[in-house]
Amino acid sequence: MLSLKDIDCQGKRVFLRVDFNVPLDEEGSIRDDTRIKAALPTIKYLLEQKTKLIIVSHLGRPKGKYNPKLSLKPVAKRLSELISLQVTLAPDVFGDKVTKLKRELKEGQVLLLENVRFHSEETENDSCFAQHLAQDVDYYVNDAFGACHRAHASVVAITQYVKKSVAGFLVKKEVDYLSKAVFSPEKPYTAILGGAKVSDKIPVIENLLKKADSILIGGAMAYTFFKAQGYEVGNSLVEEDKIDLARIILNRVNEEKVNFYLPSDHIVAAKAEPEEESRTVDSFPLPLNLMGLDIGPETIEKYSKIISESKTIFWNGPMGVFEIDKFSNGTTKIAEAVAASEALSIIGGGDSVAAVYKAGVSEKISHISTGGGASLEFIANETLPGIEALTEE
Ligand code: 3PG
Repeated sequence: MLSLKDIDCQGKRVFLRVDFNVPLDEEGSIRDDTRIKAALPTIKYLLEQKTKLIIVSHLGRPKGKYNPKLSLKPVAKRLSELISLQVTLAPDVFGDKVTKLKRELKEGQVLLLENVRFHSEETENDSCFAQHLAQDVDYYVNDAFGACHRAHASVVAITQYVKKSVAGFLVKKEVDYLSKAVFSPEKPYTAILGGAKVSDKIPVIENLLKKADSILIGGAMAYTFFKAQGYEVGNSLVEEDKIDLARIILNRVNEEKVNFYLPSDHIVAAKAEPEEESRTVDSFPLPLNLMGLDIGPETIEKYSKIISESKTIFWNGPMGVFEIDKFSNGTTKIAEAVAASEALSIIGGGDSVAAVYKAGVSEKISHISTGGGASLEFIANETLPGIEALTEE
């Protein structure tokens, strides 16, 4: 894929796709601007190159309809503060007014288009819509790593209608790090997978079975695997319709050389509630009225040792119900172990990212991905639709 430094965009009209899908609070204020900050190196570079900069993003899932709560207005304000420059928010992504704004844009000026998902054609990867987006555009830059797993019009179809399509600095950095884990991991390579559902992780596990030396499983998804082995898991969350698939994966583990670990002890309680009494259990059957809500101390110790001996680590998903302090210890301790290791460490998505920040160890992680879904899909499929669409080197 070509990247930003491969094109001469001086003074050109550039369409920059970013992922400004930031969390908003009840009042519509931005709760976390990490994703805006992550695109700043690309935005600043494009402004230094005196481009006429058109920025495009989605926000939430408005399902093809205008929704004032998902307007990019707060994003325009925050971006303007961060780059100390006026950011004009267009009323839409195309139409007469937008065309005028695009054409009047001067070198070094920024136009932010309104939420591209206000049109259903975006998620349908519609060619005609993509042509509208590409109108008057010289170059396309994709810095929306978090959306690269979506074959949407502003990510994929648009690249057909511009001179060249290149990766921004964030996309390049994400792809470089994830490629190390996918194509040339230094061994031992350990993958840590958590979260509630096995179903979200099946393609990733299938790929990791061939690549990783150890796979450490935590979170409620462990109980679907236990159930597949015939254990009684009490009231723990199990995906009944995925038990057969879990069994197939466990059979594959025996065929591959990978070490596949499930928790050896569990923090259990009657409910995932802060005031529930909890205790540690280290054998099956789990009591009928109790559910596994975190990994226990023995599992933490075992997993931490494997992590400390690793040279490459990929982690996605919490080890327990991380939102509740009482059941967050496993995730926090794993975050600390990953941070303490000398491995190239990559963390993709959601609660595992929150855990490293909460544990105060984010600085010690080699790469924290801005795309949870995208990083998982990259590990599973070794590429993404948005990366494939960029101009080849
Ligand atoms: C994300 O938040 O993971 C990305 O912005 C993609 O959003 P989506 O899951 O709504 O496509």
